[in-house]
Amino acid sequence: MTRPSGSVLTAQNLSRIYPSGEDTVTALAPFTYAFPPGMTAVVGPSGSGKSTLLNLLAGFDRPTTGRVLVDGTDLHALSEAGRADFRLANYGFVFQNHNLVTILTALENVEFPLMLAGVPVRERRERARALLDGVGLAARATHLPSQLSGGEAQRVAVARALAHNPRVLLADEPTGNLDSHTGERVLELLTGSAREGRTVVLITHDRDVAALADRTLRVRDGVVTADG
Ligand SMILES: Nc1ncnc2c1ncn2[C@@H]1O[C@H](COP(=O)(O)OP(=O)(O)OP(=O)(O)O)[C@@H](O)[C@H]1O
Ligand SMILES: [Mg+2]
Repeated sequence: MTRPSGSVLTAQNLSRIYPSGEDTVTALAPFTYAFPPGMTAVVGPSGSGKSTLLNLLAGFDRPTTGRVLVDGTDLHALSEAGRADFRLANYGFVFQNHNLVTILTALENVEFPLMLAGVPVRERRERARALLDGVGLAARATHLPSQLSGGEAQRVAVARALAHNPRVLLADEPTGNLDSHTGERVLELLTGSAREGRTVVLITHDRDVAALADRTLRVRDGVVTADG
């Protein structure tokens, strides 16, 4: 699955301008970048445009100019339904708040993307168990999210994000709500996944977290600059 040379994820002249009363806000100024496989950290002050960038890369928001290419597919040229299917097949997400489905157990949450992808029940259950085991939560399989600690829930969210082996993993402050030890465990999962050749884009306020990435994008007032 790895493609050591060449990028899977590319932003071309990508920008987002939001209307703001009579005025406009340039949340993201035109930005071109080929994300290499591995982990890219996105840092910058609050309100600088980090989530705007991630939402565009995910296809959750429409760019004002430019496009997002994933392995040659123009994300925003797809229909709404086509984009949802495409996202399901190619992306994993981890957010600050784990966004687990409250009425499903830990195991069922991990199975969920596999169910949507039409993976047969036996196979998806087996894979979900292996993933939960991988994040150290085999013993919590039947717990509901409300019965998990914040860090456990976040590890379930990472297992879910990796369940269908996505090429692109997008994370917005995934360790923001966790103590440093639990945060480190979640980060290990993400860096491990980057080492396997995935394209991981990780928003963080934490310098120590950014230091673990292969490279860093700095965002300031909507302007993105790459360093290293
Ligand atoms: N839907 C929207 N409509 C209007 N303005 C928006 C919208 N979404 C974001 N903005 C503005 O765009 C700018 C960038 O917001 P964004 O959420 O990308 O910041 P951020 O870097 O993720 O900040 P934080 O670190 O606080 O999460 C902000 O000034 C914000 O107010
Ligand atoms: Mg944000």
